[in-house]
Amino acid sequence: MKSKFLSSAALASLATAALLSGCGKASDSGKIRMITEATFPPYEFRQGSEVVGIDVEICKAIAAELGKELAVEDVEFDSVLPSLIANKAELAAAGITVNEDRKKMVDFSDPYVETGIVVISAKSAPVKGAADAKGKRIGVQNGTTSADYCVEQLGQEPDRFDSPASAFAALKAGKIDLVIADVDPAENLVKGDADYAITSEPRFLTSECYAIAIKKGQPELLATINKVIGEMKASGRLAAIFEEFKAKADALAAGSGACACGESCPNAACDKSACPCAK
Ligand code: ARG
Repeated sequence: MKSKFLSSAALASLATAALLSGCGKASDSGKIRMITEATFPPYEFRQGSEVVGIDVEICKAIAAELGKELAVEDVEFDSVLPSLIANKAELAAAGITVNEDRKKMVDFSDPYVETGIVVISAKSAPVKGAADAKGKRIGVQNGTTSADYCVEQLGQEPDRFDSPASAFAALKAGKIDLVIADVDPAENLVKGDADYAITSEPRFLTSECYAIAIKKGQPELLATINKVIGEMKASGRLAAIFEEFKAKADALAAGSGACACGESCPNAACDKSACPCAK
């Protein structure tokens, strides 16, 4: 279970950290800290014990520009921005949608992708959009724009889960009727699924942009981040990273044919004990 922001355990460790190094001090270890929530492929997901993905690559490039190494911390999604504001990281990167409410709390970089949220439901009883979603049991990841969509656009409380995957598992178990989630993790979840698919028509319920968030009032850091993102777009590196991590996340989702570490299976039956990461 991930640490909840300012849980008693977190408070205790904050208190200890305060004694040791001064509370709320920015990183002085030569590292840039990225805070994220790593159940969101292809942007951030676990390969073995490591958090990898598009957001990690972007933040690595930012850290390199600053002459530092990247350290990644994984918390619950609704703790990502509060943790940033509490100086627990310099960068928040978690497929974070830019919106007016969040702009009041943090500063956002230039966007690095245009995307949106979609409906996942049974192919046999497809939910196509707001009109037929209303009144049904809807699963979302807590703290996301999908949760906001339910409350603000559909006027109803969703069932809140700690990841898109646990919402999807509840859908498959018949506990809810549909999932609303960001399109890329949604595509990853339904990949190869015989019974469930993205069923919204038109595909997107919203139009959203992701950006890196930082604590307010740091124009120099913001300019550096925007420079790195601009260069990654212009050089084609960003597009290459998208392709690489979509493929890696899909290979992981497919299960058979892929090892847990993302390597392809060394034998046709995909005996997982033969995977490089199992050794
Ligand atoms: N884009 C959505 C939002 O900002 C969902 C992001 C969820 N990200 C994650 N790493 N779990 O609310």
